[in-house]
Amino acid sequence: DPGKYVTVLKEQYPTDQMTNITPTIISKLPLRLHTQPSHPLSTLRALIESHFPTYAHLSSLSPLVTPYQNFDLLSFPQDHPGRSVTDSYYVNKDLMLRTHTSAHEVDVFSKGTEKWLLTADVYRRDEIDGSHYPVFHQTEGARIFSADASGMKEVEEDNARLLNHLKRSNIIIEDVPHISAANPCQPAHDPKHTELIAMNLKLSLNSLMLHLFGGRVGATEEGPLRVRWIEATFPWTTPSYEVEVFFRGKWLEILGCGVIKQATLDNSNVQNKLGWAFGLGLERIAMVLFSIPDIRLFWSLDSRFLSQFNQGEITTFQSYSKYPACVKDVSFWLPENTSLHENDFCDLVRDVAGDIVEDVKMIDDFIHPKTNKRSLCYRINYRSMDRSLVNDETNEIHSQVGSRLRDRFGVEIR
Ligand code: PHE
Repeated sequence: DPGKYVTVLKEQYPTDQMTNITPTIISKLPLRLHTQPSHPLSTLRALIESHFPTYAHLSSLSPLVTPYQNFDLLSFPQDHPGRSVTDSYYVNKDLMLRTHTSAHEVDVFSKGTEKWLLTADVYRRDEIDGSHYPVFHQTEGARIFSADASGMKEVEEDNARLLNHLKRSNIIIEDVPHISAANPCQPAHDPKHTELIAMNLKLSLNSLMLHLFGGRVGATEEGPLRVRWIEATFPWTTPSYEVEVFFRGKWLEILGCGVIKQATLDNSNVQNKLGWAFGLGLERIAMVLFSIPDIRLFWSLDSRFLSQFNQGEITTFQSYSKYPACVKDVSFWLPENTSLHENDFCDLVRDVAGDIVEDVKMIDDFIHPKTNKRSLCYRINYRSMDRSLVNDETNEIHSQVGSRLRDRFGVEIR
């Protein structure tokens, strides 16, 4: 409500019409799983860092950023959907939770750091299922070179070194798209320089993929590691790509990357430089490397989960038994002229049920032909990861979902 305050990481902030951060989300901010020794996300972070030993390794930046840092400094258009309150968490109109680690690119470059990795928790409003969670972790990596003969010589030498390493390794790189009209180089950049930088990006990341996946069961055991590059677009890079790795029978999307646009470097007060950046999601990679079946497990405090891992070791998670699910539906009439975004529904359920909600699906949506009223029905799958739920407990939680829906959105439960 306007005139009120919300406490986030021990500081008070005024709220406004944009405020949508929830108690569940606020409770996650201090946890910083990527820095907790022995946690799989921390081991994965360290594994990536060990591949870039000469880079600065950052992992303690606050998740609170301005929309200006998260979007404007990276040339996101004003009408980009990521800016909306249905997609991102706002403390108020001037402060939000970063939606990606790229939010820090300009700050880090501004400090004069030229080679760095940054790992952090990021926040996006989303649906609920086994592979989506509103908090996840990313590692951003970037490197810039002088845009002159000495800088380009450095790139060429690094490219030769990486090429030599990759040639001797068991890896197949498929479909590397060339710089093209659809994925152009910057007008301010010499196309030959851009080619060299894009090559350095590709070789650096192919060698990272080999470091992460090469030699693991499901990858090289059945032949060479397969990596493919797909053209992409990001507002602050061009050319841009997505990288996928073939792992256990599927193409797995690993990261987004590109050659940094001149506007981003200008915003960082970086002159006469050229470089690349990438951003990679840790949970998805950790889920396959450690065989972790549900994204909620990363947040588990159960020793049957935590005690299975040692810092620096990639081991296969042994699932403890799956507890029974309890499926409940909630149907309701929406008040006239209102709509309810699925992400608002999901945040409400998370606030009531915490991590015992496994999956939420809309199963019915219709408009009554006579009254013109809209009815929605959601199916909620409740399941704890560490115990059997008692029916009374689930009923109680489910009825709280109903009453909160009534209080907050004025719905009429059917
Ligand atoms: N921030 C992008 C994402 O979250 C990934 C990215 C990072 C893309 C750096 C390009 C350069 O999807």
